[in-house]
Parts: sequence; C-alpha cells; structure tokens
Amino acid sequence: MFTHSDLASLQAQSLKMQGWIRRQTFSPENEKTLRRFSSWEVSELVFKVNQSTFRGRLAAEPGLPAGEVEEDGRQRWFSLDEINDLRRRMKINRQSLMPPRPKGKRALRAAIANFKGGAGKSTVALHFAHAAALDGYRVLCVDFDPQATLSHSMGLTDVSEEHTVWGILARDLIHETDRMNAGPRGAQSGAALPQRRLPASIRGLGLAELRVGDFLKSTAWSTIDIIPSCANAAFVEFASAQYRHVNPEWSFFAAVSRYLDALPDDAYDLIIFD
Ligand SMILES: Nc1ncnc2c1ncn2[C@@H]1O[C@H](COP(=O)(O)OP(=O)(O)OP(=O)(O)O)[C@@H](O)[C@H]1O
Ligand SMILES: [Mg+2]
Repeated sequence: MFTHSDLASLQAQSLKMQGWIRRQTFSPENEKTLRRFSSWEVSELVFKVNQSTFRGRLAAEPGLPAGEVEEDGRQRWFSLDEINDLRRRMKINRQSLMPPRPKGKRALRAAIANFKGGAGKSTVALHFAHAAALDGYRVLCVDFDPQATLSHSMGLTDVSEEHTVWGILARDLIHETDRMNAGPRGAQSGAALPQRRLPASIRGLGLAELRVGDFLKSTAWSTIDIIPSCANAAFVEFASAQYRHVNPEWSFFAAVSRYLDALPDDAYDLIIFD
C-alpha cells in the first residue's frame, strides 16, 4: 500500500522530470528580453504623431531620452522605459501623451474568457497586455490556468505553486477563517457562530505569512507584472472545493477580489485575467 511518503517521493521525482523537460523546452538560460522600438514605431504607432514632428521635438529638447542610435546614424531605438519617460515629459501641440486614466479609481479588471478551449484566450490576453503597455498603461496579468501559457509566454517558467493564484486562495482562507473565528459571535441572533478549524495540511504551509507583493512577478516589459501559474497549480479546482468545505462562508471569487483590493488603487491601470 502507498503511504504519503511514497507520494512525496513520487512528487519529488515528478518535479525533477518536469524540471528536465522544462530545461529542454524553454532554454532557461535564454532570458526573455524586450526589444527596442524604432523612432518610426514610437511616433507613428505608439504616440500616433507625425515622425518629423516627433524628431523635431527630440532635437528641440536635448534633455529628453534620445534612444540608441544605429551605426549608420539614421534610426533611433527606444526602450519601453524611455518611451514612457517621453510620454510623461513630452507634449505635442500642447497635448499630453499620457493615456486617459480616471483619478481615484482602482484598476479596470477584464477577464478573457470563452467556453471553447484553444480559441486564443491566452494569445488575446498577451497581446492585450502588450498593447495596453505600449499605450502607457501599467498592467497586471493574472494567470488562472495551470497550463500557464501566459506565464510561459511572458518568460516565467520557474514558478512555485505557492506563488500562484492557489497560494493567494490558501493564504486568504487562513486569514478569513481567523478573522471570522475572532469576530463578534452571532451578535444579532445570540447564537454562537461555528468555529472553523483548518487542517494542518493548509495551515502548515506557511502561506499566511506571504505578503501581497510576494505574488507579483515582473516581466521583460517593465510596466507589465504577472501573478503567474505553473503546472503544479492544477489542483486549484480541487483545493477550492475543499476550502469551501472547511469554511462554507469562504469563496474563490471573493478571495481573488480581496487580494486585488489590497493593492493600492493606483498601482495598476488594467488587470487582465486569463
Ligand atoms: N489569431 C490567431 N491566428 C492563428 N493562430 C492563433 C491565433 N490566436 C491563437 N492562435 C494559436 O492557437 C493556439 C491556441 O491559442 P491560445 O493558447 O491563446 O488559446 P486558449 O484559448 O488560451 O487555449 P486554452 O483553452 O488551452 O487556454 C495557439 O497555438 C496559438 O498560437
Ligand atoms: Mg489559455
């Protein structure tokens, strides 16, 4: 008969094999980087201004980021950070280049969802994030999928399951259960609310100590962060059912929402769920 120590050694072997496959497939030494953008791309596609106007403004204000100049001296190439710096400091026809963003509001939350599998959700999420970042927005992506397509395409291949949405759920379950247990007990009805006990398998993982920022990973795009996923997070669906069982007042969606509410309102402009 198998015991939990057999399972633990099977899991260790499985992780070793996954690591090996990952190294073969993703070449972890090749870190994802973001290319530079030409002055034509920056003016015509990003800022949507005439290229000669853009070049004129750069020439008139030598303090502005000038990009890297090609060897033949014709084309300039700008990094995303330089583009965002230009966006903050440059005005064209007295117009700011900053994208519209309602003040004092939290980030817009958008889910890329579809019943059909393989229809292009993750691809849309990736391009949506890139497009928004090029428009000057700060984006947070949340990868809910244990296939981790979005995380992989953003260059995150070495993710531990504690730092996925699953970690956020388990951490929230512990915090919420403690809060409910400590709260006023049935003040309205006079009845004592049940004290919920969490199994050591949940409490003992050390997730309660993780900070909000521990789940946010940066990507090759400086204005895109991601809460990544990994294959080992495939048990989220089972885990969340178990969490509902140990504490029926707890819910998956409220947990994700509470987590996002803990971020400062102005930390991001757009939150994309894949
Ligand atoms: N517009 C497109 N044209 C051609 N191929 C596409 C397009 N969009 C996505 N694909 C390809 O289709 C496949 C599935 O895309 P993707 O992974 O984005 O789908 P998904 O809906 O996220 O899938 P899943 O349900 O597994 O999460 C990928 O190989 C992707 O490269
Ligand atoms: Mg997908």
